Amino acid sequence: MIISLCGFMGCGKSSVGKILSSMLSCRFEDLDSCIERMAGKSIPEIFSEKGEAAFREMEKEALKGILSASDGENIVLSLGGGTVTGPECAELVRERTFCIYLKAGTDTLVGNLREDWASRPMLSRNGETPSDMLALRDRIEELMAARSAIYEGVASAVISTDGKSFDDIAKEISGILH
Ligand code: S3P
Repeated sequence: MIISLCGFMGCGKSSVGKILSSMLSCRFEDLDSCIERMAGKSIPEIFSEKGEAAFREMEKEALKGILSASDGENIVLSLGGGTVTGPECAELVRERTFCIYLKAGTDTLVGNLREDWASRPMLSRNGETPSDMLALRDRIEELMAARSAIYEGVASAVISTDGKSFDDIAKEISGILH
């Protein structure tokens, strides 16, 4: 079984995924890291050199690669925050994985993303990085308005992450799976 984690940038997909995979003694895959390995470039470099559409193509190929190589193995897979915004990826995630949506409120996301804007090109608007916390909040809310229904739609389970540690979230997921 592939357990995938979806949710907005900064909700803890990668951190929770690593903890969960060690709890379940199975392999961990991070889709963003796969794309970076395939491209030999960082995600900001891919966005600035090739643009979002090219990134989404690579993301789709990386997802397909992981799914087709899994061969029944148990894997915890952290998706990117925008992976399921593409209909084809959303369908693959819905049909081929047990997807858990890590649902975080805006305050949690602002807190987690405040030190880490530069590595996330989608937080920029028209090429401009948010200039302060209010602009960051605004951008998160704008993207979340377009995405929350998509996250809910692909997920088999939703876990609210506000006020919880990554360990607690991983334990909660493990409880759902057993
Ligand atoms: C993106 C989220 C990022 C990464 C890329 C695009 C998005 O992943 O895939 O920058 O569109 O939300 P994280 O959610 O791991 O930051």
